[in-house]
Amino acid sequence: MDIVISARNVCKTFGKGETAANVLNGANLDIERGSFVSLMGESGTGKSTLLYLIGGLDRDFTGDIYVGGQSITGLNDKKLSELRCQKMGFVFQFYNLAANLTVEENILLPIEMSGRRVSDYKSKLDYILDITGLSHKRKNYPSQLSGGQQQRVAVARAVIGEPDIILADEPTGNLDEASGTEIMNLFKRLNQENHVTILQVTHSAESAAYGDRVVVLKDKKIWG
Ligand SMILES: Nc1ncnc2c1ncn2[C@@H]1O[C@H](COP(=O)(O)OP(=O)(O)O)[C@@H](O)[C@H]1O
Ligand SMILES: [Mg+2]
Repeated sequence: MDIVISARNVCKTFGKGETAANVLNGANLDIERGSFVSLMGESGTGKSTLLYLIGGLDRDFTGDIYVGGQSITGLNDKKLSELRCQKMGFVFQFYNLAANLTVEENILLPIEMSGRRVSDYKSKLDYILDITGLSHKRKNYPSQLSGGQQQRVAVARAVIGEPDIILADEPTGNLDEASGTEIMNLFKRLNQENHVTILQVTHSAESAAYGDRVVVLKDKKIWG
């Protein structure tokens, strides 16, 4: 089995002293390359926290996380950021779009940040804008979009660079049913045709059904 993401005995505590909050305590998770895994669990159990750790966006934890066989704990910030830019696409729960950039500039950001030529991605951009229903909004700013549209920009930004791995935090959480279905179909296609590994957090059984495996975060550990 080719394991592309492996979390080993991950422990995460926010804060120190009296207000310290232990969120993860010995969480283990192995994700096979090319699989589509849904992470479920009640609100506040640490799903976003775990996704941040796997994405290398929060390095303050104990245990080990391997991405593509490489321990991210051992990487310096520069190497980690390279790994993230080249291999991973992240859809944030609250979008994290750059307010001063247009829709298309936001989507192209990971291309620019990883030092690739934006001009090589022109037709890819058109395709992604089309599939996410954002073509007519390409010159708009995030503040001019609905929550669902911003979420679709976040998805477009995560997929444009053809990452090996997509980490998506409730990617359909703010979408109407039709848009949610579009995004899930896009994920399914990326997974089946391009063998992109997907780890999505979701509360929806319907969205989870697009994947091939469900794991649950409960009592500070991963089950299933
Ligand atoms: N930056 C932070 N500082 C302190 N506590 C946090 C922080 N981020 C998250 N938490 C706490 O960690 C727990 C898990 O949060 P989160 O990972 O967002 O849960 P989920 O995504 O499953 O709803 C919650 O109790 C939350 O309040
Ligand atoms: Mg969350």
